[in-house]
Amino acid sequence: MTTHALPPPASLAPANGNHPTPTPAPGPSTRALHAGARRGHPHHSLTPPIVQSATYTFADTADLIGFMDERMFVETPTRQEYGRYGNPTVRGVEARLAALEGGKDAILVSSGMAAITTSLLLLLAPGDHVVMSADSYHRTRVFVQRFLHRYHITCTAVPPGDLAQIEAAIRPETRLILAETPTNPFLRCVDLAGLAAIARRRGLRTLIDSTFATPLNLRPLEYGIDLVVHSVTKYLAGHNDLLAGVIIGSGGLTAALREAQSLFGAVVDPGAAFQIGRGLQTLGLRVTRQNENGLAIARFLEQHPKVLRVWYPGLPSHPDHAIARQQMAGFGGVVSFEIAGDGPAAARFIDALRLPYIAASLGGVDSLIEQPAIMSYYDADPEARQALGIDDALVRFAIGIEETADLIADLTQALAAV
Ligand SMILES: Cc1ncc(COP(=O)(O)O)c(C=O)c1O
Repeated sequence: MTTHALPPPASLAPANGNHPTPTPAPGPSTRALHAGARRGHPHHSLTPPIVQSATYTFADTADLIGFMDERMFVETPTRQEYGRYGNPTVRGVEARLAALEGGKDAILVSSGMAAITTSLLLLLAPGDHVVMSADSYHRTRVFVQRFLHRYHITCTAVPPGDLAQIEAAIRPETRLILAETPTNPFLRCVDLAGLAAIARRRGLRTLIDSTFATPLNLRPLEYGIDLVVHSVTKYLAGHNDLLAGVIIGSGGLTAALREAQSLFGAVVDPGAAFQIGRGLQTLGLRVTRQNENGLAIARFLEQHPKVLRVWYPGLPSHPDHAIARQQMAGFGGVVSFEIAGDGPAAARFIDALRLPYIAASLGGVDSLIEQPAIMSYYDADPEARQALGIDDALVRFAIGIEETADLIADLTQALAAV
């Protein structure tokens, strides 16, 4: 397994001059705590204050003119003007997310879907074509296939991770390749270096939804991807208590994205940004535990006689295990599996569990479990559902930070009920 040796983020460089001996690249918890963090908050506060203001004042007209002059030449001005254009609490968290992902800038938005729709509306114009991985998040597919269709933007969905089919789907009017890695619910992984090489050769942009990976396990920008989005609602905020999204880029597009956000208006509240910042402080600990839980539970389920099949990229049986091992530092906390039985058998198993909650979402501290056939595809066309391989007995387990042994004990007793 590759452990990425991130060059130390700028914010971790020594603050007080040259150190003669190079320091080792910081580990996940150090990065999650210190990346992009600025010291010297007002009132000597250790934590960044919540600046709960919709607008910002100017001392006099000369002060305002000075700001307007600065804004014409500087992408990130030293002060704020109005809440939809920026907020110090939000900006602090954005700097941290950019540093964690290895990007130039990060734009926090009001949900993961807002990150996806803002990016797509900026990158695409009528007549354009998108190549999208077929098992992208359900709502992303609906947005691209139904909503963008109204603006004469077309799309070809290709099997996840298949670079040959991705390239074959490219047309003269293709502008963007949109993919997720790992995907939901089968945790398929795409070879990001290969994807970026195709895009470069064909003059296309690339957008990766990296929600399932987290920047601790995978950093797509390092492979030459243009933009990364996350549903911050999941691992990054980590406590199932807020909705947010982020768009992170290595340059070029970030100023245009910021402008698009100020036009679309999908901003994040400063209070939510503060909670995201607090969530990020334990990201390293949480994701490390979730990686460990994910692998241990996938291995446990794979040898259990009442489980037909398990999808987890950390298992050698997963179709994308080789590329996952190569590009990921850990495989995350989501495990999908098929119960040996029908839909009602899977429901009996889920209902017998004592620890996980039955709920949508993933990546938070609490374990959540669901049958995708019911939670995400209840009203879907059965044929379309079958084509995506969503069997009635499929279970998606979004593992939290509980002790591994407790989760395995709970799974053991619930599987006995099948
Ligand atoms: C992979 C992925 N992307 C995007 C989203 C949308 O995020 P949000 O619910 O924060 O809008 C989700 C939500 O489940 C998701 O799983």
